[in-house]
Amino acid sequence: MASNQDTAKVPAVGLIKEPEWVIKVLMVCLGNICRSPTAQGVLEKLVFDRGLEKVVSVDSAGTADYHVGKNPDPRSIEAASRRGFDLSSQVSRQVSDQDFEQFDYILAMDVENLTVLQSRCPPKHRQKLKLLLSFTEQKRLSIPDPYYGDDGFELVLDLAEQACHQVLAHIAYEFSSK
Ligand code: 4NP
Repeated sequence: MASNQDTAKVPAVGLIKEPEWVIKVLMVCLGNICRSPTAQGVLEKLVFDRGLEKVVSVDSAGTADYHVGKNPDPRSIEAASRRGFDLSSQVSRQVSDQDFEQFDYILAMDVENLTVLQSRCPPKHRQKLKLLLSFTEQKRLSIPDPYYGDDGFELVLDLAEQACHQVLAHIAYEFSSK
């Protein structure tokens, strides 16, 4: 993977060439109702704003099944909406075995969920697993879980926005030279 220094130097993402396949990004947290839907919504908007919908697709899932079939937490929807991100049509699902085959980047919101993914992922796909915050210069590794408090939703958005810009820059860097 390119270092943060490398990704900071990439040209405008609009210069990306269209690859022959869609680059698929999966955001993963525990319940798939707070952090990973937020990261999905943020990256989707960055992709949409750059006209890259045919180049990059984004999805999210949870390692747990507690909230399968539900929309994101209303607190996540509202906080994201205030910044122009629409999470309202997302529906929670659990990570499946096929996800390890089908996605190119599987980005965990925290260390605990990365560990769960590592234990489930076949060795040949393990290089796809990364922490979302590994794309930033943040010292913290994990996006704190906001579910049991009321004030963590803005921090989730702050971190997701920082990281998603870098994820897209990284993808542009990786694929513009191919
Ligand atoms: P998320 O947050 O993993 O960011 O979606 C959580 C949502 C629900 C629960 C825990 C974390 N829960 O325990 O139900």
